[in-house]
Order: sequence, then C-alpha cells, then structure tokens
Amino acid sequence: MTFGQWQTPNVSTDGTANYTPAFPVLSLYDPIVRFLSRDRAWRSYLLRLLSAAEGQTIVDAGCGTGTFLKTLARDRPGARLIGVDPDDKVLNLAREKLTGSDIELRRGYLRDLVDLIGPDSVTHVVCSLVLHQVPMGEKRAGLKAMFATLKPGGTILIADYGLQRTAVMRNLFRLVQAVDGKENTQPNADGILPELIVETGFDEVAELKVFFTPTGSISIYRGRKPGS
Ligand SMILES: C[S@@+](CC[C@H](N)C(=O)[O-])C[C@H]1O[C@@H](n2cnc3c(N)ncnc32)[C@H](O)[C@@H]1O
Repeated sequence: MTFGQWQTPNVSTDGTANYTPAFPVLSLYDPIVRFLSRDRAWRSYLLRLLSAAEGQTIVDAGCGTGTFLKTLARDRPGARLIGVDPDDKVLNLAREKLTGSDIELRRGYLRDLVDLIGPDSVTHVVCSLVLHQVPMGEKRAGLKAMFATLKPGGTILIADYGLQRTAVMRNLFRLVQAVDGKENTQPNADGILPELIVETGFDEVAELKVFFTPTGSISIYRGRKPGS
C-alpha cells in the first residue's frame, strides 16, 4: 500500500468530511507509535498533568485504539472517561483493549464533540496526534468544539507535532509529512497550534514541554477555558 492510498478519504456520517486513518494495518499501529513517537514518555507526562480529583470527566478526542484511555482507567479510577473517534475499525480495537472498563466510546469527529457530549460538561479534553493530520478548518472547528464542551475552568491538553525548531527535527518530521501530506501538517511544523488555541478563546495557553522523537518534536500544549 502506498502512502497516497493511505490517505484515501473516508466520508463522514454527514457526507461532508473525511479523515486520515490511524494506520493502514491497524494491528501495527500501537507498536509503531511506541517506536516512532516515544509515546510512553509523553503519555506519562500527560497523565501527570491530569489531577486525580474525583468527579472529573476526561474526553480523549480522536482516541484511536484507546491506549491513553486504558492508562487513565487504571490510574484515574474516579474519573468518567469518554473516547471519541470517527473510525469504526479503530473504535472496535479500542473496545477490545478496554474490555471490562466502563469507558464510553462514541463515533464522531472533533467538531462533533458538543453534539456527542454536551456543552460545558467536562473538566478535561485530551487530544493526541490528531490535529497535525487534519485540515486547517477542522483544527479550528475541533478546538472550538473542545472549548464549548469544557466547563468553565476546564483544560485542554494537546500532545502533537508542533513547531519543529531545528533542521534535524524538520527533516525527521518529513516522514510524518510523507504519510499525512504536507498541507495539513506544515502549519503544525510552523508552530500554528498555540495561536489557534489562543484564537479559540483559551487563556493561560502554554507549551509545557517538547519531546524529541524519531519523527520530529512533539509538544505538549495546555489551555484553560476562562471562568471559575
Ligand atoms: C495518529 S492517530 C492518534 C490516536 C490516539 N489519539 C493516540 O494518541 O494514539 C489519529 C486518530 O485521529 C482520528 N481522527 C482523524 N481525523 C479526525 C477528526 N477530524 N476528528 C477526530 N478524530 C480524527 C483517526 O481516526 C485516528 O484514530
């Protein structure tokens, strides 16, 4: 299978949008992400940023095969957990991986979050490795929907390819660009994410950490919805 075929559009429920599948051979997705993105390092960092308070609701937007949800179920047992992804095949894998937990899985795009979950209803939205592969319109619409579904004072945590600061990182990131296409990925490499997060209305926006990986640097961004 060529990279071009990998990007074959998938029509959404309303027939207007499409997405890049997590990986052509889904059974290989987890080990490949482990190796190519050093996901253990940045997922443990994300976990530390999520407080252990009872009563929180955490949404994993574009949850893929449910790797982070599984960690959350183990380490944040008091939280209500919701995973959203547009790909049925990926959701089926997540369902298998999460058997025995009461995590809720829903099918939809980032932009559908409010319809799927409701406005002002969750304390955290986490979104990892999704925004770099969606068009600018979906980056904006997705962030807007995350904002709307958060309670005032709630936070978003984004882990994704961000500003590629050095020639080495820009060259390594070319592998991701060969797979996911340049149009959607280049704005991330140019550092657009914090601007978009601020533009959406979040405050206290910060790039908290940068992880160097074999496929470029992955940044952790946090933003807070204004209010109590
Ligand atoms: C590279 S995978 C990352 C999965 C997971 N977040 C992780 O960290 O392993 C990207 C995921 O985003 C999903 N996706 C692609 N476009 C999306 C969109 N517009 N809204 C929500 N999810 C999307 C894909 O189905 C895929 O599962």
